[in-house]
Amino acid sequence: MEEAILKLILLGPPGSGKGTQAKLLTEKYGIPQISTGDILREAVKQRTELGLKAKKFMNQGELVPDDVVVGIIRERLEKEDCQRGFLLDGFPRTTEQARALDEILNKLEDSQITGTINLEVDEEELLKRLSGRRICRECGEGYHVIFDPPTNSDNCNECGGELYQREDDQEDTIKARLAVYAEQNAPLVKYYQEKKILHRVDGKGSIQQIFERIIAAIKGSSKDD
Ligand code: AP5
Repeated sequence: MEEAILKLILLGPPGSGKGTQAKLLTEKYGIPQISTGDILREAVKQRTELGLKAKKFMNQGELVPDDVVVGIIRERLEKEDCQRGFLLDGFPRTTEQARALDEILNKLEDSQITGTINLEVDEEELLKRLSGRRICRECGEGYHVIFDPPTNSDNCNECGGELYQREDDQEDTIKARLAVYAEQNAPLVKYYQEKKILHRVDGKGSIQQIFERIIAAIKGSSKDD
């Protein structure tokens, strides 16, 4: 039997584990992870025109304008490796972005998103996760000072690179990001609920438990429609 092509979206507040789960899911399903946050951070690091434009929004915890991120996604989805599916992490963030995504997919290959996972985590837990997050400057591997600490507190287990804290993981910026999320997410959830492709997943528990819940949701066993 031919395997279904998975075109997935991971929704969830900052710190809900989208990046962590995306890595596991892309390994399992062999599809690329497309993270607008990662693409924007790389542009900031390289000081490209896009990076310079995005930086001030990101450092204030605000969303980068829709036309900028939609352009990034359009270009990325045209690449060969997306033809057998993909996993969007952190996009869409607004209903305008969701509508633009539908148009892009229609034009590209007359296809649509197959499933949207909404990771649900309470604010107290999100604050703990974000304030303790550390990332390797060299390979991008993620850690948490309490929940997933590296063997040596300053260096990556994988490559020995220096670990750093994201600029937007400072307390004030975290609060601004959570407020933006609270405003934008309800209409987005409704958008996918109406399309009957939304799966609500409890994002609290071990990384493995959550991974298994997501897989069950993708298989359709816990579809919330
Ligand atoms: P983005 O990079 O997308 O950030 P985010 O949505 O705020 O999400 P995070 O990356 O902070 O968290 P995550 O859910 O991936 O959690 P993680 O797995 O790392 O966006 C950053 C900025 O870019 C935005 O604010 C905006 O400015 C801009 N942007 C991006 N996309 C945009 C768009 N579409 N439109 C406009 N602007 C856009 O986990 C967090 C921590 O928790 C880690 O330390 C991890 O180890 C730990 N952890 C994970 N799972 C568990 C668990 N089960 N138990 C305990 N700890 C855990």
